[in-house]
Amino acid sequence: MSPIITRKMDAFRTFYDFIQLKEHIKHFGAQLTVGLVPTMGALHQGHIALVERAAIENDIVVVTIFVNPKQFNNSSDLKKYPRTIETDIALLSRFNNVVVCIPEVNDVYPENDSYSPIKLGVLDEVLEGRYRPGHFPGVAHVVHNLFSFIEPTSAYFGLKDYQQFAVINEMVKQTNLEVKVEGCNTVRDKNGLALSSRNFNLNEEQINDALIIIDTLRFIKNKLDQFEIDDVLEQAKVFFNKGKLTLEYLDIVDAQSFKRVTHLNQKSVCCIAAFCGEVRLIDNILL
Ligand code: PAF
Repeated sequence: MSPIITRKMDAFRTFYDFIQLKEHIKHFGAQLTVGLVPTMGALHQGHIALVERAAIENDIVVVTIFVNPKQFNNSSDLKKYPRTIETDIALLSRFNNVVVCIPEVNDVYPENDSYSPIKLGVLDEVLEGRYRPGHFPGVAHVVHNLFSFIEPTSAYFGLKDYQQFAVINEMVKQTNLEVKVEGCNTVRDKNGLALSSRNFNLNEEQINDALIIIDTLRFIKNKLDQFEIDDVLEQAKVFFNKGKLTLEYLDIVDAQSFKRVTHLNQKSVCCIAAFCGEVRLIDNILL
């Protein structure tokens, strides 16, 4: 990080469009490294961990807050998505080298939007892709546009959304955008529940019930040295069903291609999605 830039970058700022944001960044010179943390707001410690890492590794960090309508395949899910903009800004205001950008839909998707959809193949056919049609094309589109407008050096994503991370890497590969995509470990509460903006919609009892997710993932990890994958998954479903959640999927896939694996001879990830009441939660564990 350049010491000259650090000295100048003292004020926390919020921008509401990309033009002003870009002017602000340009002001500090071409050598500046820009870390981008794209979010949909409702920030929690998982997001803050991304911002902290981005702030260490870059001269300036841009946190975008944009609830992307294109990635919701269900309009009631979009409506229910938690929005806590004032708390979000307050949480970020303690950082010196962070600016927030809260763009409008027309900024993110302008009339002359040049994005052409990428081919996601298997990534969009299994797990999240299968159960949320249109979700990953919407994620790829918004992240592409944020990368093109903001031109970050690096961008930071939580690995709780492991499949999303794979989708974003694929989008960058296919569109030749020059940005380093960094994955950051899932942040969990003291009992192991993965932090998620959706947890804001859970009551205390549900937060407790939701622990069956991490318990099931750990159950699987522990059993895999004794049993075959398919047996372990069957046992894990029985274990999971003793809890109160409703399982949507539970599977073990290759961590890059997301193709199903039958033997653990490659880097694999066990992914789960389940409903806790009306709230859909996802998690994963690397094997
Ligand atoms: O992970 C999220 O919060 C969103 O999918 C993202 C990456 C900000 C795109 O809208």
